[in-house]
Amino acid sequence: MATLPSLSTLEHLFAALEEARARTLELIDDLSDEQMIGPRLAIVNPLRWEIGHVAWFQEYWVLRHFRGLPPILPEGDKLYDSARIPHDTRWDLPLPSKAETLKYVLQVLERITNPSHSASRTVKETNDYHEDYFLKLALYHEYMHAEAITYTRQTLGYPAPRIGIAQRGKAQNDSGHSASLGDAEIPGGTFLMGSTPDMPFVFDNEQWAHEVRVEPFRIARTAVTNGEFMNFVEDGGYQRREWWSPDGWAWREAVQADRPVYWKREANGRWLRRNFDRWVRLEERHPALHVNWYEADAYCRWAHRRLPTEAEWEMAASVEPASGPNGVSSALRTSSRKRLFPWGDDLPTPDRANLDWRSMGCVDVDALPAGDSSYGCRQMIGNVWEWTATDFGPYPGFSPGPYKEYSAPWFGDHKVLRGGCWVTRSGLIRNNYRNFYKPHRRDVWAGFRTCAL
Ligand SMILES: [Fe+2]
Repeated sequence: MATLPSLSTLEHLFAALEEARARTLELIDDLSDEQMIGPRLAIVNPLRWEIGHVAWFQEYWVLRHFRGLPPILPEGDKLYDSARIPHDTRWDLPLPSKAETLKYVLQVLERITNPSHSASRTVKETNDYHEDYFLKLALYHEYMHAEAITYTRQTLGYPAPRIGIAQRGKAQNDSGHSASLGDAEIPGGTFLMGSTPDMPFVFDNEQWAHEVRVEPFRIARTAVTNGEFMNFVEDGGYQRREWWSPDGWAWREAVQADRPVYWKREANGRWLRRNFDRWVRLEERHPALHVNWYEADAYCRWAHRRLPTEAEWEMAASVEPASGPNGVSSALRTSSRKRLFPWGDDLPTPDRANLDWRSMGCVDVDALPAGDSSYGCRQMIGNVWEWTATDFGPYPGFSPGPYKEYSAPWFGDHKVLRGGCWVTRSGLIRNNYRNFYKPHRRDVWAGFRTCAL
């Protein structure tokens, strides 16, 4: 298994933490103190709380838990501990101003990267977890919140963030194609789902690789497009109960949904979608985006398709075909080689995956062929998160990592998503990475691909 060379030394880790912090600050740079609080919504956080929480988390695990240093803010735990402060009370906290919060945010990073703030006493026993584990945990946590800050800006209708790395209007945004790439045929068999201990960092919910048997299946080579989803909407998909699960129909009735959340139709019949604070023409070859699990599931019934299971998704993304007699593709075996990314073990590059805000939005579903999996599935990493049919749950023998609230509290009522989106950091995402949201969430950067029945 390939290592991630960019994080192999403390210096590289510190540089990655600095780069992540610079990105976090870019994401909120133009927002006023008032915008940094925003309206009280069930699905997002006040941004002033969110950036303070990112720094607090880093301070808690690296400076306090690992290095044994005293807290910087006497009241920090009462402000920023997400496990103890209920979501809907975060707007009522005595949060410091944006300027004061930024001071704390930079102070924490400065102490982490400055050797004079290394452990003041003998480093306590941490059960095999070394400093690089906690530095990576803090880094990946910041990457996740950077994505959340971006969807919060979309939810609240704020302008798109100004990100230095973004290269707008790249040719790869428009593939010029319009025909579907069809399905990839996966022969099924057994494979090792999950991650192995030789990987440089493994979240608790990926532990550990275990044998899973999958029947032969056919999976779409691309995600469902806006154009395809538009056909579902225009065919009365939201009005016909037969396409919806009972929970999905109850959700639809409760919010009176009749289209994806950011879509509107002009008098001339043309569809627009809201992109941050602007209305743009709906791009028919972009993936359907901001659809929740219920909407994805209803589309599948209408299209006589189904969502892939989590195991099918991982198999299609990561396993290399096995050759039987005469070179004919045969059922996969547990010993089949798995790739870290769909294209192999090399790190993501812009021609393989749309990540890191580079394109400031999605690209056509059939763009970036260099990122295809060995079975020809496109963009399994990047562009849009993909809902799977599977409830988020523990792998056999699960035991929580040091950050106990990362996975275990969410088992059971969340659905698994795979693959990352245009805002996900290339340093975070891999084939085995499991994301999870409740099925009603439409604010996140999620779409889906389908399987044949
Ligand atoms: Fe967090």
